[in-house]
Amino acid sequence: RGTQLSTQTPQVGIALIAQRAMPPSMVPPSDPTIAADAPVLFFDSGLGGLSVLGPTRALLPTAPILYAADYGGLPYGEKTEAEIATRVCALLGRLTERFKPRLAVIACNTASTIALAHVRAALDLPVVGTVPAIKPAALASTNRIIGVLGTAATIRQPYVDALSAEFASDCVVLRAAAPELVHAAEAVLRGDPVETGLYQMVMDRLINQPHGDRMDQCVLACTHFPLVEQQLRAASPSHVQFVDGSAGIARRIAYLTQGQPCPDQAPGGRAIFTRSTQHVPPPLSVLAPFGFNRIDLL
Ligand code: DGL
Repeated sequence: RGTQLSTQTPQVGIALIAQRAMPPSMVPPSDPTIAADAPVLFFDSGLGGLSVLGPTRALLPTAPILYAADYGGLPYGEKTEAEIATRVCALLGRLTERFKPRLAVIACNTASTIALAHVRAALDLPVVGTVPAIKPAALASTNRIIGVLGTAATIRQPYVDALSAEFASDCVVLRAAAPELVHAAEAVLRGDPVETGLYQMVMDRLINQPHGDRMDQCVLACTHFPLVEQQLRAASPSHVQFVDGSAGIARRIAYLTQGQPCPDQAPGGRAIFTRSTQHVPPPLSVLAPFGFNRIDLL
């Protein structure tokens, strides 16, 4: 690198030095030495991260995918900050060491709003997080009333206060926890029944707050929730629009992996579930439509 630098024009040299000083998550690696089969690692407590994977696959159809679901820790939304931070850092460390991903995506709002900075500090690879899409919601809101639907752990985070202050300071930002939706989304993916009236009950937690009847943007601040967006829409007034961050995350992943080699054809994705006494991984038939051909336990 030193020799390379001395052959560059001063401007390019400065740019390279500036890049090196930035955290790895901010720098597009463009590293052609990355193995073509090095996976993009998606991480969530369960199947919610599949809502982030969809738009990423559309942009990067042949990128190898490793999806890790921490069924042993599901649901994250009911855990403490310390439990989540410890668990997520340890697991991502283990997965990185074992599978050598080119990039990790924390496809979980709860884990990202609590542990993103810790994970970035601990791992020597780019890490993309998933944070509540308050900024796009504020940009789109006509009535200046926004709802944030997330897990109990996410909606109490200072990260959400900071996003609201930075991007929606002239909006009323309503928050509600909907832990039941995590289980509903897992059930819907498997084709299992969900209690009638659940979606209405959840939306009422926002709509029945002061100003809630005029909420026109609802942030799906848990990656499980876009998986039941149609059901939530059917249970909401027609002026409510739903917004999540998955398209922006996909663009970010594409940016950070640009120039890297990928297989010529899409390889089958691999899904890994941590062992759990309560949750059983879904059959492959549930994951095959998302491009997976292998399920393993960790
Ligand atoms: N999918 C996760 C999120 O985005 C959380 C689900 C859970 O409670 O584990 O917040």
